[in-house]
Amino acid sequence: MTLMQMQLQELPADLKRERLPRHVAVIMDGNGRWAQRRGLPRIMGHPHGVDALRELVRCCDDWGLEALTVYAFSTENWKRPQQEVTLIMTLIEQFMRGELPEMMERDIRLELMGSLQELPRSLQAQISKSTQATHANRGLQFRAAVNYGGRQEILHACKALATQVQLGHIQPDKIDRASFERHLYTPDLCYPDLLIRTSGEMRISNFLLWQVAYSEIYITDTLWPDFDRAEFHRALWTYQQRDRRFGKVKS
Ligand code: IPE
Ligand code: IPE
Ligand code: MG
Repeated sequence: MTLMQMQLQELPADLKRERLPRHVAVIMDGNGRWAQRRGLPRIMGHPHGVDALRELVRCCDDWGLEALTVYAFSTENWKRPQQEVTLIMTLIEQFMRGELPEMMERDIRLELMGSLQELPRSLQAQISKSTQATHANRGLQFRAAVNYGGRQEILHACKALATQVQLGHIQPDKIDRASFERHLYTPDLCYPDLLIRTSGEMRISNFLLWQVAYSEIYITDTLWPDFDRAEFHRALWTYQQRDRRFGKVKS
C-alpha cells in the first residue's frame, strides 16, 4: 500500500463530513476500453472492474457514506456477445458470494434493483442468499442495479398504479409523487445526491431516470478499472464545491 493509499483509509481532511452526499450512484463504464488499451480482448476488463467496485464499497464504508448504488448490468446489455454476458453474470455471482463475509463484518446491507427473474437461476439463488444474510445490517446501503432499466422501472410503477386504480384503491386524480414513488424498485432509498460516470461518456444510459432529477453529475475520463480512492476523493471534493439550488435562487 502506498503512502497516498494509507492516507485515504479515512475521510480526507479537505472534505467536510456534513456536506458529504448521502447517496452516491455510479455508472461503472469503460471496462472494455481499459482492456483494449492493454491489447487484451475487451471482456478481460470486467474482472478488473470488479476489483475497482470492491474497493469503492470499502471506501464508502470507511468514509461513512450512507448509500451507494452501482450500475452493473443494464437491460440493454443483453445485446452484447453471449460470452461477455455469461462472464458478467458469473462475475456478479462470484462477487455476491465472495464479498458476503466482508459485508457481514462491515455491517453492509446489500440490495438489488432490476428485473431479477430474468437472471440465471444460480445468480438469483446467490442474490437471495446474500440479500437475506445482510438484511438486518445497518451500515452502508449498497445497491447493485442488475438487469436494470430506468424506463422499465417507470413502466413497472405505472402498471402497478393502473392496477390500483382498476381495483378502486386510488382515484387517478389522487396520484401524486409519493404514491408513484412507492411503486419504484427502491421506494425507501433517498435519491442520489451525486451521480458519477467514468470513461467520459456524457449520457445516462437508462440509469435511475426518475431518481436523478436533481443529482449532481460528475463525469471523469478515467476508465472504471482505474477508478480508485483518489478518484473518488476528487469526485466528492468537486461535489462539495457545487451550489445545489433545486430551482431556487442561491442561498
Ligand atoms: C462497463 O464497461 C461494464 C458494463 C456495461 C457491464 P463496458 O464494457 O461498457 O466498457 P466500454 O464502454 O466498452 O469501454
Ligand atoms: C452503462 O454502460 C451500463 C453499465 C455501466 C452497466 P454501457 O456501456 O452499457 O452504456 P452505453 O452503451 O455506452 O450507453
Ligand atoms: Mg460502456
